[in-house]
Amino acid sequence: MNVVILAAGQGKRMHSDLPKVLHPLAGKALLGHVIDAARAIGAERICVVYGHGGEQVRTALDAPDITWALQEPQLGTGHAVLQAMPALSAAASRPASGGTLVLYGDVPLIRASTLRRLIEAAGANSLALLTAHLDNPRGYGRIVRVGGEVQRIVEEKDADDAERAIREINTGILVAPTAALARWLPTLGNRNVQGEYYLTDIVALAVADGMPIVTAHPDAAWETEGVNSKLQLAELERVHQRNVAARLMEAGVTLADPARIDVRGELLCGRDVGIDVNCVFEGRVELADRVVVGANCVLKNCRIGSGARLAPFCHIEDAIVGPDDIIGPYARLRPGTELGRDVHIGNFVEVKNSTIADHSKANHLAYVGDATIGSRVNVGAGTITCNYDGANKFRTVIEDDAFIGSDTQLVAPVTVGRGATLGAGTTLTRNAPPDQLTVSRAKQVSIAGWKRPVKQKKG
Ligand code: UD1
Ligand code: CA
Repeated sequence: MNVVILAAGQGKRMHSDLPKVLHPLAGKALLGHVIDAARAIGAERICVVYGHGGEQVRTALDAPDITWALQEPQLGTGHAVLQAMPALSAAASRPASGGTLVLYGDVPLIRASTLRRLIEAAGANSLALLTAHLDNPRGYGRIVRVGGEVQRIVEEKDADDAERAIREINTGILVAPTAALARWLPTLGNRNVQGEYYLTDIVALAVADGMPIVTAHPDAAWETEGVNSKLQLAELERVHQRNVAARLMEAGVTLADPARIDVRGELLCGRDVGIDVNCVFEGRVELADRVVVGANCVLKNCRIGSGARLAPFCHIEDAIVGPDDIIGPYARLRPGTELGRDVHIGNFVEVKNSTIADHSKANHLAYVGDATIGSRVNVGAGTITCNYDGANKFRTVIEDDAFIGSDTQLVAPVTVGRGATLGAGTTLTRNAPPDQLTVSRAKQVSIAGWKRPVKQKKG
């Protein structure tokens, strides 16, 4: 199967410098969704017809299985598919028997199951149209049937009143024998209200050729809805997120509110996972069994171990959280963070490029950067690893069972030995030996008989 994806339109109504097909839905370009649908049905060759924002579109989505056909200027959908023909005939291993499926770069939610049904209906030598029955068919091309047989498609702008009353519409998606397309497309005319070469005119040509015309229908109306405006983009985003939420719940995930979750990538969940409202998942996120995610967490490319609990407002990116850990509220785990089992990271604690081993805790207000922390370590409130001298970064090593008093600065490179204690307020510039108390603090003095100054009387 060849797939041609039409993506040359400008998308004026988006009011944006970004080409329309590059606008993201669930974090992925609209055109990316359509390309993935083409791959899902095992397309032999995918040809994208591009025009507006050309190079930007190509560089964003180029891949070895995609060929690109420039359409400049844009003279209509029939003209657009014609631009793809050289790529198809050159590539098709069975040019005479192969079919071509036409998709649209701005119709992102088309499902592989619907496309398979359409392809099946087409068989080897029919023209298959994906049509739908709408209560309000306005703006769409209408399917004109005589005695039940499809005769032609008439565009809304070219239709008379009787034709406009037809409620069966052309979604635009179709499958045609590639050889017949190659024959028909160069013969299309543009004598219509819009002065365009209409792809839809191939229907009448197929009838003239005596080719059977069959129809299939999408399972859901949103599958064939296009994006022309930010409003439509937002509506399809919600449809997509509702579908993702439904799949998660069918697999046993508990969602506090399926209308308040955003998955912009791949979310893999174990058994008995619970997710509170307003969480955003980006890239690939794995939540193991019994993970609980509190409200308003943002997780990107991370793995959360079984039984771990994320309190509300955590931000986690490129990090690994261990089993039974307790994170947050308001914790930030940055790239390169790896936490062992039963680790506690509390409010306003930032961890970056650091490993923290089993049973260690940093419960309040700390910065842990470029550090290797052992097991059962307690990092007191206000502790900071001074990992950067303005030019280079250095590591801090804290060995097992160390106790770091509050408001400590660890000036890296520096090592705190096993079982060492650092007194509160220490600025550690040299290694702290194991099992000893190290403290760098001016000795406390009390001055007997000292008097507070009193306010002097004026005048
Ligand atoms: C088209 C169909 C109409 C159908 C409707 C479904 C034709 C003549 N009409 O109408 O029957 O009901 O889609 O939405 O096909 N494009 C190009 N190059 C061009 C023109 C269009 O790449 O020269 C692309 C656009 O980017 C867009 C798609 O083709 O993704 C459809 O084009 P558009 O002009 O929106 O067609 P409609 O008038 O909506
Ligand atoms: Ca359209």
